[in-house]
Amino acid sequence: MDVIEAVKNRKSIRGYKPDPVAKEVLEEILESARWAPSAMNTQPWEFTILTGDVLENIKRRNVELLNSEAPPNPEHVVVGWPTESIYRQRQVNLAKQLFQLMDIPREDKEKRAKWQERGFRYFDAPVAIIVSVDRCLSETGPLLDIGAAIQTICLTALHFGLGTCIEDQGTMYPDVLRKYAHIPESKRIVMAIAIGYPDWDFPANKLQTEREPVKNMTSWLGFD
Ligand SMILES: Cc1cc2nc3c(=O)[nH]c(=O)nc-3n(C[C@H](O)[C@H](O)[C@H](O)COP(=O)(O)O)c2cc1C
Repeated sequence: MDVIEAVKNRKSIRGYKPDPVAKEVLEEILESARWAPSAMNTQPWEFTILTGDVLENIKRRNVELLNSEAPPNPEHVVVGWPTESIYRQRQVNLAKQLFQLMDIPREDKEKRAKWQERGFRYFDAPVAIIVSVDRCLSETGPLLDIGAAIQTICLTALHFGLGTCIEDQGTMYPDVLRKYAHIPESKRIVMAIAIGYPDWDFPANKLQTEREPVKNMTSWLGFD
């Protein structure tokens, strides 16, 4: 798969086959990710790879906390945009598309709650990657580098027939990750990536999100 094909084929996968992912394959993916660029080659990313009982315990505890309405406590806050903005509009569009594919009526609170649980269970993926960063680094500085590494993981995963979903939902309860995955307080938990073999029959995996055309986000100067 060439680079442009991979970039355009990558999409978020929210339903997985239970098949395990070989450690050697995950190692190759991380071997690729470590070549991501970073500011002054600081390489701030740290990865914790979870599967088996450890991941099952985390999924279970995340869902318990979610259902007991424990307040989420993310260490990197993704959500935050004005209600009248285009950003909110795009978020609403995404939710509408996903709910339509999953046959979740807007007013069906129970089905919506069940859908939300899936994110806290890493969409039932057999593996989750937790991305963290040392707290001695600035809070925002390493985020660009980490974004590059995460995209590299997602693109390389395609090479092995794997799907991914970058998700902050999987980091809403950092204490759960600290307890079961032994991530120390000295590390800021930034993001999770669900990874596994896609279940292409899962309705949400049919979603093809849209993007603005280049002209809407670009200014060209000095070309003519
Ligand atoms: C920082 C970040 C956080 C995300 N968190 C979630 C999440 O918690 N749950 C989810 O279902 N998708 C999550 N996503 C996936 C986005 O919804 C998805 O990338 C976006 O809708 C574009 O769709 P695509 O990935 O299929 O191209 C996240 C993506 C990013 C980059």
